[in-house]
Amino acid sequence: MSTAVETEAHGSPGAADSLLVMEDVGKSYGNVDALRGVSMDVRGGEVTCVLGDNGAGKSTLIKIIAGLHAHTSGTMRVEGKETVFSSPREAQGRGIATVYQDLALAPLMSVWRNFFLGNEMRSGFGMNIAEMKRIAGEELQKMGIVIPDLDRPVGALSGGQRQCIAIARAIYFGAKVVILDEPTAALGVKQSGVVLKYISKMRDSGLGVVFITHNPHHAYLVGNHFIILKLGRVVLDAHRNELTLDQLTAEMAGGQELAELSHELGDLHPERVVEPHTVQPGDVAPPTGAMRIVQGNPDN
Ligand SMILES: Nc1ncnc2c1ncn2[C@@H]1O[C@H](COP(=O)(O)OP(=O)(O)OP(=O)(O)O)[C@@H](O)[C@H]1O
Ligand SMILES: [Mg+2]
Repeated sequence: MSTAVETEAHGSPGAADSLLVMEDVGKSYGNVDALRGVSMDVRGGEVTCVLGDNGAGKSTLIKIIAGLHAHTSGTMRVEGKETVFSSPREAQGRGIATVYQDLALAPLMSVWRNFFLGNEMRSGFGMNIAEMKRIAGEELQKMGIVIPDLDRPVGALSGGQRQCIAIARAIYFGAKVVILDEPTAALGVKQSGVVLKYISKMRDSGLGVVFITHNPHHAYLVGNHFIILKLGRVVLDAHRNELTLDQLTAEMAGGQELAELSHELGDLHPERVVEPHTVQPGDVAPPTGAMRIVQGNPDN
């Protein structure tokens, strides 16, 4: 079952604290409809989680907001003004920062170079290295990120530290909306925790955060608002007080589809154990990859 919750339930789109509003947005790539009729309201001081399976349209949605692709129908308003971005730089100029999982930083460059990449401070004929190092160090410290040597190449840092540098950089350069594309997908439990902590810090400092994830548990830890996309459409749009983690997980898992899958798999009895076929002398060679199904515990 999918629950489409009316936007009226939590204020009309475009309310005063809305940083970015999408209404009925669609995107076609030739005859592929990657997004259809998507509405979304990103507010300051909130984390909007966008969930969905592979191919659901999550990346397409963020590419529109980040200025990489233009939508083909509907409207997007940034701080009340109808907008179609023609480049990522234009989106950045309007306070929209996107932290991509792998492309966020240049691994061979130092921490401070990465922090100022594309926004270098100049003095006379060269770069003002001392000032850039000082500011990078201060900004990272403000977020509680301790990196003893700012000359270290970013490639030598952990995935979690790298995400945090990209987040601190986005905030320093004036982001109002920060989009995070699956920031915890490749991280372990501890590092994911660090990134989720910064997401909540951003939320508490009034930024509008769009958190793209496959993981309902991570989403529910920090999210105020949840949107599930499926085949380019919004199938769930709910605020935190409208659903539990269990409901979000069930919706994300596909609810009815999961029940059908479980029915189809019903023929496989859990008490049976599947073990690789053991070749005995005189056996006819089984087809490659053949498995033998045994009843009960093989150790018995
Ligand atoms: N440049 C493109 N040209 C044609 N079709 C595209 C293009 N980009 C995306 N699509 C299609 O649009 C649909 C949505 O893709 P999208 O990448 O937005 O999904 P996603 O939710 O980000 O998936 P994933 O979790 O796998 O990253 C898919 O059917 C995809 O094949
Ligand atoms: Mg994607």
